[in-house]
Amino acid sequence: MAKTKNLNSVTLSRLPRKDILLKDMDATEVEAFKTIRTSIFFSLVQVEGCKKLLFTSSVSKEGKSTVVVNLAITVSMTNAKVLLIDCDLRKPRMHRFFKDKSIPGLSNYLLGENDLDSIIKKTEIPNLHVIYAGAIPPNPVELLDSKVFQEMMDTLSQSYEYIFIDCPPLLEVTDALVVSKLCSGTVLVARQKYTTHRFIHQALKKLDFANAKVLGFVLNDVPKKKNKYYYRYIT
Ligand SMILES: Nc1ncnc2c1ncn2[C@@H]1O[C@H](COP(=O)(O)OP(=O)(O)O)[C@@H](O)[C@H]1O
Ligand SMILES: [Mg+2]
Repeated sequence: MAKTKNLNSVTLSRLPRKDILLKDMDATEVEAFKTIRTSIFFSLVQVEGCKKLLFTSSVSKEGKSTVVVNLAITVSMTNAKVLLIDCDLRKPRMHRFFKDKSIPGLSNYLLGENDLDSIIKKTEIPNLHVIYAGAIPPNPVELLDSKVFQEMMDTLSQSYEYIFIDCPPLLEVTDALVVSKLCSGTVLVARQKYTTHRFIHQALKKLDFANAKVLGFVLNDVPKKKNKYYYRYIT
């Protein structure tokens, strides 16, 4: 698995509450997101044009949505134009962070029910737009594997410097693998005392099989006292 060696890994500590946004975090938590941002910037220096980043994990509840939403906010603070897309069409969560409704969203556009402009929402954060998941469809993989989705990504790439995508877990469904084909890189989220080595190994195997470029890990929910913000390498 040549592509998955020497992966960069960054830690994030336990957060004080559910669906928390960066503005309600303390300085160390904000600093952790800035560290993740720096790490991602370094790993994407070769990518020209819009940088499209997929966030996934092996199973559910590892912190994908929490990490991707707050990382997108952290990147938008650099004045970059950022778009967040909730591609978890099965268990959409992104709208909760912004206290909004998920509908109309991505699935509605992919089904031809809404135009693109009507599903792109502004947030309270300057430079950050979001596309929520929309109504839960019966066929998420087919929608994400479609030409319409591919063309939508091409169109959006003209308008944004970064696109952050939240996807379902790799060991449960194939949605993330399908989306990874359209992305510059994939970040895996793992949760302390929850994600097993076996899960990570299986998830990496799937990404390798799909030829996804794995940029690294965010190790989430690390108890604060053990959490030193440092880079290390997993081999
Ligand atoms: N670092 C953390 N500290 C405390 N709670 C967290 C942390 N990361 C995630 N959570 C909580 O765990 C649950 C699952 O997180 P979520 O981001 O929805 O995971 P996923 O998208 O992988 O299913 C949510 O209730 C979320 O608020
Ligand atoms: Mg999620």
